[in-house]
Amino acid sequence: MSDGQSTWGGRFTEATDAFVARLNASVSFDKRLYAEDIDGSIAHSAMLAKQGIISDEDAAAIHDGLEQIRKEIEDGTFQWSTDLEDVHMNIEHRLTALIGDAGARLHTGRSRNDQVATDLRLWLMRCIDGLLEGVDALQAALLDVAERDGQAILPGYTHLQRAQPILLAHHLLAYFEMFERDRSRLVDCRSRCAESPLGSAALAGTPFQLDREHTAAALGFNKPMTNSLDGVADRDFAIEFTAAAAIAMVHLSRLAEELVVWSSQEFSFVEIGDAFATGSSIMPQKKNPDIPELVRGKSGRVFGDLISLLTTLKSLPLAYNKDLQEDKEALFDAADTLRDCVDAFARLIPACRVNSERMRAACDDGFVTATDVADYLANKGVPFRTAHHVVGRLVGWCLHHGRTLVSLSLEEFQQFSDAFEDDIRQAVTVESSVSARTSPGGTAPVRVTAAITEARQRLSNR
Ligand code: ARG
Repeated sequence: MSDGQSTWGGRFTEATDAFVARLNASVSFDKRLYAEDIDGSIAHSAMLAKQGIISDEDAAAIHDGLEQIRKEIEDGTFQWSTDLEDVHMNIEHRLTALIGDAGARLHTGRSRNDQVATDLRLWLMRCIDGLLEGVDALQAALLDVAERDGQAILPGYTHLQRAQPILLAHHLLAYFEMFERDRSRLVDCRSRCAESPLGSAALAGTPFQLDREHTAAALGFNKPMTNSLDGVADRDFAIEFTAAAAIAMVHLSRLAEELVVWSSQEFSFVEIGDAFATGSSIMPQKKNPDIPELVRGKSGRVFGDLISLLTTLKSLPLAYNKDLQEDKEALFDAADTLRDCVDAFARLIPACRVNSERMRAACDDGFVTATDVADYLANKGVPFRTAHHVVGRLVGWCLHHGRTLVSLSLEEFQQFSDAFEDDIRQAVTVESSVSARTSPGGTAPVRVTAAITEARQRLSNR
């Protein structure tokens, strides 16, 4: 494009250097904001006409022209130009080519600074709406498996050492709660995102009598932002979203890691469905958990996106600075990555076959009911610390003699404490251990069944 026609050509005598133009341009990635840019321009021009700042005819021409451009973009016939730098100037340039002077009036009382902030907030609000559906589907998938296979008993772990038996449903519901908080962080972030910067203009506001409430409402924002400098300068909404995404990725990565470990031959607690697993190009026997591994690995990208946004914003003087153009790729990447991982797990989790025999067998040789023996003695009046010591000796003896707790006779128990009575033999079973844990939030089947019902209700009330 010759400098005479460029947006700021009036001030310049030399054309932009080709390398500078390429480095400066953001259109390759910000064209993704086209729908929000068009919606914002339609709202802005309609408001300008309502306020008597442009004519109704001009507003109508702008509206029609923008709808035509939307169609061209969606049909793939729109000619994007790097020389036109970004999505905003590409669209405005095409509009003016289509409708002449009316198009050139669109930018009255507006700047790219408030335009891009508006577009990005709007994009993120819509993105969060989609993500919330994805998280709902993931939570529903966890509940489906909790209902289908949740009665399976497996060892719960601490330090990845067998600790106490739990219901599989209890384990799955733990993730349901993590994703519930991730969801509420997204909802919370959306509410702060839903304030419109449009009408902040370049930084100081504008002498035109804009109706900012009108454009905010037309675009689905809750209200206009209070301060014009803040409106164009901050990207805390992008940081906040990416931080929420990073936390969600932490949760996904923990589930991913468990799927990798649980599907190993050493554990064999689950088998990932063939449609969600991959083979090896050299080892014919292999079935690899690539999707959980990828989810685990992709968490790193999102943490990187967060650091990138924090660093871009840090120490940045008010108001707009070109550094802010760097916000988009990190935000898009975090959003895309989270969405992909949420969707992948919503589909993969129900496609896992649960091996409840292996889970149950893993409870048999790890002394997972040792705490129940200590609790038993405490119930018979032995101080818990003493009981803990007694059971420690008992476990040591079993290890030495190759015995398990369930195999011991009453007489053998009584060698360690005369508080043991006949009912100890029942108390050490895995099933009674699980059933005994009736404390609120515990793994007893009565608790877990109620927890599933309550979780279902939360999902259906949305
Ligand atoms: N492409 C720019 C960005 O993404 C749009 C805003 C440009 N504003 C400016 N004054 N150069 O940040």
